[in-house]
Amino acid sequence: MSNRTFTMIKPDATAKGNTGAILSMINAAGFRIVAMKMTKLSKEKAGEFYAVHAARPFYGELVDFMSSGPITAAILEKENAVEDFRKLIGSTNPAEAAEGTIRKLFAASIGENAIHGSDSNENAAIEGNFFFSKLEQF
Ligand code: CMP
Repeated sequence: MSNRTFTMIKPDATAKGNTGAILSMINAAGFRIVAMKMTKLSKEKAGEFYAVHAARPFYGELVDFMSSGPITAAILEKENAVEDFRKLIGSTNPAEAAEGTIRKLFAASIGENAIHGSDSNENAAIEGNFFFSKLEQF
C-alpha cells in the first residue's frame, strides 16, 4: 500500500464545479486512479472519518462542512504517493499554500480547503478502506 494515497474532493470544490479541473491536475501529476466515487457523507460518517480530530475545537465545524454536500473520494497510485500528493495539494491553510497547488488555486479557507490528502501510508490504507471494498480497488 505504500504507493497509494487517499483523497476527497470536498463539498466546497464540488459546489463550485471544480471537480473536473482538480481530477485533471491529479492525472497530469502522474497519479493513477485506483478507485473513485461521488457520494455524500452523513454527519455520523463524517464524524467517524475525522474521529482523530474529535478533541479539536474545529471538529464540529469540520463534520458539518464535510457532510454539507457531495464529495468525490478516490484512491490514487504513484511512487511516493502520500508525500507527492501532499505537495500537489499544498498546505492545509490555502493562505500558506505554494503557487500552483490545488489548494492555492481552489481553496477559500482552512476549513473549506477543497481537498483532503492522507498524511501517512497507514492512514491512506485506513481511509481508502473506509470508502471502498477490496472489490472496488483496482
Ligand atoms: P484535512 O486535510 O481534510 O484534515 C483535517 C481538516 O480539518 C483539514 O483538512 C481542515 O479542513 C480542517 N481544519 C484544520 N484546522 C482547522 C481549523 N483551524 N479550523 C477549521 N478547520 C480546520
